[in-house]
Amino acid sequence: MPDTTPPKTKPILRALAGETLPTPPIWMMRQAGRYLPEYRATRAEAGDFLSLCYNSDLATEVTLQPIRRYGFDAAILFADILLVPQALGADLWFATGEGPRLSTITDRAGLDRLKPAADIHETLAPIYQTVRNLSGVLSPEVALIGFAGAPWTVATYMIAGRGTPDQGPAHALKDSDRAVFDALMERLTEATIEYLSAQIEAGAEVVKIFDSWAGSLKGADFDRYATDPARRITAALKARHPGIPVIAFPREAGEKYIGFHAKTGADCVAVDDSVSAEWVAEHVQVDGCVQGNLKSSHMVTGGEEMIRDTRRIVAALSGGPHIFNLGHGITPDADPDNVQRMIDAVRG
Ligand code: CP3
Repeated sequence: MPDTTPPKTKPILRALAGETLPTPPIWMMRQAGRYLPEYRATRAEAGDFLSLCYNSDLATEVTLQPIRRYGFDAAILFADILLVPQALGADLWFATGEGPRLSTITDRAGLDRLKPAADIHETLAPIYQTVRNLSGVLSPEVALIGFAGAPWTVATYMIAGRGTPDQGPAHALKDSDRAVFDALMERLTEATIEYLSAQIEAGAEVVKIFDSWAGSLKGADFDRYATDPARRITAALKARHPGIPVIAFPREAGEKYIGFHAKTGADCVAVDDSVSAEWVAEHVQVDGCVQGNLKSSHMVTGGEEMIRDTRRIVAALSGGPHIFNLGHGITPDADPDNVQRMIDAVRG
């Protein structure tokens, strides 16, 4: 059958399709966030972080703020990876200064209290509305990215009830009650497919799967709980929405970044800052588009070192498809002027 889809013109979609562009398109993880005074003002108007996520008009506004200020090549839906556990029935709240808190799941009874994956949509309807709002107002050059947490990363928060330095409680459940752990992973895999599919139907043009804690999975556990869910989610989304590009971010995967495109079917693999751009070019970009790598601390400290590292990454990855980004989210103490200087260094 002849390919009748129109040619892709948005730079991010071209890079995701495997094109090497003269200047890499750019966006930033957590680009809508507390380092921006306009974000802090809208968040105050919403009252708190979760109210902001579920208020489609205000969530649309904060998604657009970094696009207006910097002209990024992509907008990323404003939401959070922990809305999925909430939609499955977990309690979720954000304790000021302490990060997320959830009711914990430690046994079969806790698992049995969760809703089926197909029942998440009522809670998440405002998020889909935000996506619809955005897809109607973005300029034709700007791509709209939807996202979800990967099952392992989301499970680490659901099992511990909070963020943990080493994901100890999740590893403990995995090793002590494999059946319950696997059932939770299965529920999250199904819910993630449901959630991302609904975002795509609402207008998301790319989806990203954040596996922030993939690095604590070693050996066969990495393959089973990071690679395999990413493969299943990617395959299901592409079956339902042919051609939808997928970005996978198995953070701190190290050597396991090698082959991740091929093993999962992801169009782009996002990398953290613990690997060098030269290594990424040689071992990861050979398989497809890559994204990330700049230390987010540069957005706090700025200066010549930031410019040097920015240029080094652009040069090292100039031989293949590349989307410029940080290696992890920008932090609240970042200086908005450093972001502009970084963008100028990429585009200049
Ligand atoms: O990138 C974007 O701009 C889109 C929005 C987005 C947020 N969280 C908004 C947010 C995205 C993509 C996320 C992903 C997310 N959320 C991840 C994966 C990426 C990563 O950073 O590793 C994780 C692990 C979470 C869970 C989460 N949400 C944590 C641990 C925290 C607290 C940490 C902190 O910075 O305070 C959040 C809160 C959160 N999510 C904020 C934002 C803007 C800050 C909330 C506030 O305004 O107080």
